Amino acid sequence: MSAGLVEVRRILTATPLARQHQLRVAGKATRRPKPIPWNDFDRQQFSPEARALALDAFKQIAIGEYGAVQMYAQLTAAMALAGLPLDLLTAAASICSDEARHADYALRMAAAIAGHDVPVSVDKEPLESPWRKEVTLETLDAAVLHVAAISETIACALIGACHERSSDATVGALHANLVADEVHHARFGWYYLSWRAPQWTQAERQRLADRMASNVVGIERRFWWGRDASATHEPAARALGVLESEGRRLAVREIMESEIVPALDSFGLGASHAWQKRLRGGNPRPPRGEHELD
Ligand SMILES: [Fe+2]
Ligand SMILES: [Fe+2]
Repeated sequence: MSAGLVEVRRILTATPLARQHQLRVAGKATRRPKPIPWNDFDRQQFSPEARALALDAFKQIAIGEYGAVQMYAQLTAAMALAGLPLDLLTAAASICSDEARHADYALRMAAAIAGHDVPVSVDKEPLESPWRKEVTLETLDAAVLHVAAISETIACALIGACHERSSDATVGALHANLVADEVHHARFGWYYLSWRAPQWTQAERQRLADRMASNVVGIERRFWWGRDASATHEPAARALGVLESEGRRLAVREIMESEIVPALDSFGLGASHAWQKRLRGGNPRPPRGEHELD
């Protein structure tokens, strides 16, 4: 095969993504967003302090979701150039479209809370830099591991915790849509790894394990701070799905220990060791988007 050509075959993985792909091909993909009752939201029911915390949270979500659009677009393009199985391509491309819809939800919710349009600024450098170097299958493995498998699984836990708190119907419906989609994004990550892991050489597995470890040791610290309302405004903040520091730490620790670390261990990446050696305590940096690419 010439270096300038990509060999394209009609191949699928032996994972459940193949079945989803076949449903898409047959026009039978069934996942649809649930309606969000935007007109029911009344910003005046919430104190300015609670609104400020929720506004900050939705702006961060919008930044993360928008960044994820670029990430999955790059990933889809790179997977196409590498000639990967078609079910991986349709899954990644559909995640890209989900993330643009999530960015829309978050911007719309931010505007509803603020009472006016709220633009956000997305830093291009961390989105572009991983793709400036030569993109190999190992680059794709690392991107999928960090962004889809680890970050999307953490996103499920964090948004799930926000959803448990949110008693407002509009915010709750928004969170329910996000969780329903992020579960599929996380599964894409884990299924990709289960397809790829048997192909890794010992050296490839070790390099990925090293990159995984440098991510995992810093996860607790990165997600240490939530948004803490004063006692008077705490019920209103909860109703808007604002996640306090304690709840955020608990959600991250639980999902790491119950799902992420065991799954990474099952691929021979030695995550238990990295998790035991993790950096403890807070990082002075404010929370970032949930779809960060390290
Ligand atoms: Fe998302
Ligand atoms: Fe996602």
